[in-house]
Amino acid sequence: MLIEMPRRTEIFGSVKIHELQRVLKIDSGGFENPRAKDIPFEEIKNVLRHFAIIIPVKNEKIHLLDGVLRAIPFDCSIIVVSNSGRETPDTYKMEQDVVKNLHDLTQQEMFIIHQKDPELGFAFYDAGYEDHLLDKDGLVRDGKSEGMIIGMLLAKSLGKDFIGFADADNYIPGSVREYVIDYAAGFCMSESPYSMVRLNWRYKPKVVEDKLYFKKWGRVSETTNKYLNLLISTHTGFETRVVVTGNAGEHALTTKLADLLSYSTGYSIEPYHFVYLFDRFGMGAETITNTDADAANAGIEIFQIETLNPHIHEEKGEEHVNNMLLGSLQTVYHSKLCNDYVKSKVLEELGDILEWGKPKENIIMPSIRKIDIHNFVKMLESNADTFARFERGAIESEGEKTEHLKG
Ligand code: GDD
Repeated sequence: MLIEMPRRTEIFGSVKIHELQRVLKIDSGGFENPRAKDIPFEEIKNVLRHFAIIIPVKNEKIHLLDGVLRAIPFDCSIIVVSNSGRETPDTYKMEQDVVKNLHDLTQQEMFIIHQKDPELGFAFYDAGYEDHLLDKDGLVRDGKSEGMIIGMLLAKSLGKDFIGFADADNYIPGSVREYVIDYAAGFCMSESPYSMVRLNWRYKPKVVEDKLYFKKWGRVSETTNKYLNLLISTHTGFETRVVVTGNAGEHALTTKLADLLSYSTGYSIEPYHFVYLFDRFGMGAETITNTDADAANAGIEIFQIETLNPHIHEEKGEEHVNNMLLGSLQTVYHSKLCNDYVKSKVLEELGDILEWGKPKENIIMPSIRKIDIHNFVKMLESNADTFARFERGAIESEGEKTEHLKG
């Protein structure tokens, strides 16, 4: 891959945010120049072998999920965490069938579990995490972030070094394939074991008066980015627009960083990555634990990559968009860095969307680092009815094939 070098990096305490980098060629020819970095495909493949891609899904069209699954490079493991309906016709059953069928045909490693499996509730209870993730019936709460946490734990149990996310409602499988390769390219450039890659879509096309209009920004992303940048600017005294991926649903992170972070509920998970890192590792933050100190010394790197492909997905309506905006700005409002000026701007921005006098605090789920992962997965394997694990088949590696040919 040939990818633009970041023009600038904003250093905010231990957090390094690289400016947006464009993908110049997905498949390049090894020509490096001062403005662009060439990453050989072999290096990308090496990352993919240590990668798990998590697909959170809730009642999406089955054809879309099928396309997304087929697009994910073979070397990655796939983890589907579903919160889809179980009533007849059982959508989850259809999802399981699609996963199994694809595994039968490809032998790619795949997992699928239902978010509301009662055994997940027991496993979180056993891990001492019940107060953070379970509802009053002892089941995992609804929410995309909640599903992502389950996926991250399964990825950790596989010993993966990199964890990425891909939404299930993507109409263009080829773009999903690119997203995963872009993630890997980011990790190839990273110098810190604590790093994250966030994607900025080149375009998000919409139909306007019967024609496709290649829109660049959505309302939520634009607003969230503005306020995340304001948190930095008001603290440093220097205006910045470095953050352009505040709501990046398509993102990936090293397992070391996944262990370090806390997570905000539902769709506020992505902007909260920034808020958490600013509060805990930004300018003037005090390191509290040894792990924090290790990360602070290594630095936390955030890459923002502009995809070559546009993003075409399901539109979920105005109310959904407003809720997403509310969740995002609530995290900003409750940041330690949010001063009275930024608070007043957030209130102005939310206007009628805010039904209460002041933004509520989102539910924050603490680090998953301390969960005994082997015990957690053992419980699921023994008792969770919805948990299905399809292992990678015994496929000859290139080395083995060559040995046969020699023989
Ligand atoms: N497991 C699980 N549990 N998955 C869920 C749940 C849930 O409760 N709710 C939604 N999902 C799945 C959806 O099926 C989809 O695959 C993915 O999470 C994203 O949800 P959407 O409802 O399609 O979100 P969106 O397209 O409006 O927003 C996406 O893009 C934003 C950036 O523009 C999300 O990825 C946001 O998180 C992101 O900020």
